[in-house]
Amino acid sequence: MSRIFIITGTSKGIGKQLAMHYLSLGDVVVGCSRGKSNIEHDCYTHYHLDVSDETAVIDMVRSTKKQYNRIDVLLNNAGIAAMNHTVTTPVKTVQTVFNTNFFGSFLFSREVAKVMLKQKHGRIINSSTVAVPLCLEGEAVYAASKSAIESFTKVLAYELGSFGITVNAVGPTPIPTDLVKNIPQYKIEALIEQQAIRRFGKFEDILNVIDFFIDDKSSFITGQIIYLGGITG
Ligand SMILES: NC(=O)c1ccc[n+]([C@@H]2O[C@H](COP(=O)([O-])OP(=O)(O)OC[C@H]3O[C@@H](n4cnc5c(N)ncnc54)[C@H](OP(=O)(O)O)[C@@H]3O)[C@@H](O)[C@H]2O)c1
Repeated sequence: MSRIFIITGTSKGIGKQLAMHYLSLGDVVVGCSRGKSNIEHDCYTHYHLDVSDETAVIDMVRSTKKQYNRIDVLLNNAGIAAMNHTVTTPVKTVQTVFNTNFFGSFLFSREVAKVMLKQKHGRIINSSTVAVPLCLEGEAVYAASKSAIESFTKVLAYELGSFGITVNAVGPTPIPTDLVKNIPQYKIEALIEQQAIRRFGKFEDILNVIDFFIDDKSSFITGQIIYLGGITG
């Protein structure tokens, strides 16, 4: 039986690759982004929305439940970064980063959890970053938004634990996507130097962690944050 995935941020980057991967396995994927998607597949549906738009998120999750009658996996992937020293960061930037990274993950988790609670099964995977444990200068707002996601992951794991629903997060090292293309090369190199395994991350590294979390055999693993590259929490 095909699994039903909701994946946020599927127009490009990691989210698009995740969508293409699970579609290639025969799963159903419902994705979203503010911009257009060029994924064309019979088992793919795209919603144009901002993940912080509560009404749009409720509508997308309800429509998915109506069409497929269940949701097996939620991948809260949509995210934006803001690289700036705190003293030169406008409050509007902070609001935008938190709206997308934290409020978006919160809204999708809340709405999908309502469906998963009834079916007594589900997997929620959130997206963090090694910027949290590494306390990277210039990434205070981005890291704070992802720290909020980490706390949310741990508490939600408790709230949903007795209903067959697990909630975990993956914390990638730099992976070459649009998200990191404007970070100066020397900063990326300095970050990679702090890893136990000193190389760029790959899509397959993230996929491996997600596959582990969503595996049926991982039903006893929840509230965990797995960082890549050997970074410890
Ligand atoms: N790449 C890395 O090195 C790295 C490292 C650590 C963590 N991560 C995390 O991995 C996730 C994916 O990153 P990525 O590298 O794939 O970034 P990306 O290439 O910039 O893609 C981000 C995706 O999220 C969507 N998105 C952004 N804001 C949105 C909003 N408000 N509403 C709906 N969709 C939105 C974008 O589509 P639209 O712009 O069309 O809306 C796009 O599809 C993020 O959560 C990021 O923090 C990435």
